[in-house]
Amino acid sequence: MRKKLVAGNWKMHGSQALTRELCAATAAAKPQDVDVVVFPPSLYLREAVQVLAAGGAVGVGAQDVSIHAGEGAYTGEISAAMVADCGAGWAIVGHSERRADFRESDHDVGRKFSAARQAGLKPVLCVGETHADHVAGRTLEVIERQLAAVLDHNPIEAFVSAVIAYEPVWAIGSGLSATPEQAQQVHAFIRSQIRKKDANISPLTRLLYGGSVKAVNAAELFAQPDVDGGLVGGASLNAEEFASICQAAG
Ligand code: G3H
Repeated sequence: MRKKLVAGNWKMHGSQALTRELCAATAAAKPQDVDVVVFPPSLYLREAVQVLAAGGAVGVGAQDVSIHAGEGAYTGEISAAMVADCGAGWAIVGHSERRADFRESDHDVGRKFSAARQAGLKPVLCVGETHADHVAGRTLEVIERQLAAVLDHNPIEAFVSAVIAYEPVWAIGSGLSATPEQAQQVHAFIRSQIRKKDANISPLTRLLYGGSVKAVNAAELFAQPDVDGGLVGGASLNAEEFASICQAAG
């Protein structure tokens, strides 16, 4: 029912040349039955859109957008409307690196989600617990709080096209992925939170797992009933490995 989606978050990596190379390779390797989106640094969005416009099948998104929906005196900021104007269709909001390094609050993330939506972008909302919360058994409590900050301030209909990525912070870049069972447990919980708002929409929302997804573990993670694909960091910078991950979703 839900089409699988694999997203590649390049973080602060790349160049114009690498953008062209990775986009061309991704377009060539994309399986027909899987949606694929790449998230280059914002400076390279145009480059990615230009390369991918030819095939049109691979989406492009920004890794973040400004909290401010309208234009104004916000030096260094990039609005969701500017991302859309560049031809991109997606935006990540609430990545844990932004929550931790740039002190983005749950409330900030809710505003970014709204800004992305208002600009016509499909948001990919990231949620996930830190290692300390994980070992203290507070995973679901944290996820519930992070979700509520967005679910309570946006129309639930937004979650027909918006995507939620569960990214346990302890699994990001660590080489230690959550087990398929751990991922499934949290994804089922996330879906239950959407179901509380609207039982017709909850089966439609795509939920991605992120955190050390590689070619070797992708298939078993994606085989879980509530795991609809992955948000891939490091492995998305290797064209061959990313292609294998996309194929594992097919
Ligand atoms: O957005 C992607 C995640 O932070 C996962 O990164 O695949 O390098 O662990 P990773």
